[in-house]
Amino acid sequence: MGMKLKSLSDIDLKGKRVLFRVAYDVPLIEKNGRYEVGDDTRIQSSIKTLRYLLARRCKVIILTWLGRPGGVVTPAYSLAPVAKRLSEIIKRDVALLDGITGPVVEKKLSEMNPKDIVMLENVRFSPQEEHHDDDLSRTLSGYADCVVFDAFAQSHRDYPSTTGILSRLPSVCGYDMASEIAALGPLLIKPTYPFVVVLGGAKISDKIDLIANLLPKADVVLIGGALAHNFLKARGIKIAASLVEGQSLELKREQKKLFAVAEDIMRSVKDTYVNLGPGLSIPKLVLPIDLVACSKVSSENKTKIINLEGRTTLPWNWTYMDIGPQTAALYSSIVKKAKLIFWNGPLGYTEKREFAAGTLEVAKAIAGSHARSIVGGGDTEGFLRAYRLKKSFSYVSTGGGAVLEFLSGRELPVLSYLKK
Ligand code: 3PG
Repeated sequence: MGMKLKSLSDIDLKGKRVLFRVAYDVPLIEKNGRYEVGDDTRIQSSIKTLRYLLARRCKVIILTWLGRPGGVVTPAYSLAPVAKRLSEIIKRDVALLDGITGPVVEKKLSEMNPKDIVMLENVRFSPQEEHHDDDLSRTLSGYADCVVFDAFAQSHRDYPSTTGILSRLPSVCGYDMASEIAALGPLLIKPTYPFVVVLGGAKISDKIDLIANLLPKADVVLIGGALAHNFLKARGIKIAASLVEGQSLELKREQKKLFAVAEDIMRSVKDTYVNLGPGLSIPKLVLPIDLVACSKVSSENKTKIINLEGRTTLPWNWTYMDIGPQTAALYSSIVKKAKLIFWNGPLGYTEKREFAAGTLEVAKAIAGSHARSIVGGGDTEGFLRAYRLKKSFSYVSTGGGAVLEFLSGRELPVLSYLKK
């Protein structure tokens, strides 16, 4: 079933020079003027492939970007802390080169021995990467005999360091890339039913295509987070624009378009009900029935629960921070009926513990369910890590934007080079 990708066993890697393309776009934290890796999940997820390469005496040249330095050498985005962390994990030297191209880099690469690990500096320090300059694809490809691609989280971008190298060298997937596609693919191709999708997060603009693509495949889509405000507004509940997304003129114009899309989506599922068991006949697209509101005027962070039933306006002096307890209970009862769950995006402003209750209740319900549970990375992964729930989920993706792209039904640009 699904997509057949080229894997490590499809290529003879013995003693080869390998461009190991990873997505080490990890959070860095500053401590006394120095940076450290804040979360090494993405480094850990590449270790299995790296060990495989070392066991075959490859010369491993690591390539990634970190952050968005925009083609400018920016010390705060150096891979130095990443190389250090990788070296600690793998217990071998990892030599970070002071650049991406040039004679010094080339000399170092030519001196590599089998099982050496070298990391090129952040490829987004290169203006050539930013400008999609094919010369960079040529230069990078010249460093190696083949590409082992394990950078799912960066696979939705079309750059010299992604499609550029893949189009020029024999390429296969590493273990992490293969497991991402194996986990996410069935959501689109052959879901098991009941299939429940839980979507939250701040921005509807990131999620609209995802909702449109998953809605026909899922039995139920549960909406939370600030994302829900757009749908509540589309349903006719007046909600301040500032709560929805940004305030600039351009954004307001964009919002209008997004509302139109939200309205279309609402219309397309109007009167579609799903029966998930006795007493549980629910609409296909479920919106919150209550919200936790935080006073904008009170200095004491006053909160209250606003029941949405029968309302056409929401009080203006309050900010809406979380789904309310009734919504959390409803969503939890729905996910418990599922056989397959996909979840992306916190359901409230979880950066503050007092507004994490709704997300936590639903997360625990998913964790405790018998369903196969798949989580799209980014903030959701961070939430699960913070609450030590990650192990209770079947699969937690390392991708952020890449998950959204993939599940929106757009083919990831790298895949055409990695298919069998
Ligand atoms: C990620 O970490 O999800 C990617 O590295 C982000 O890539 P982008 O900066 O192009 O969105």
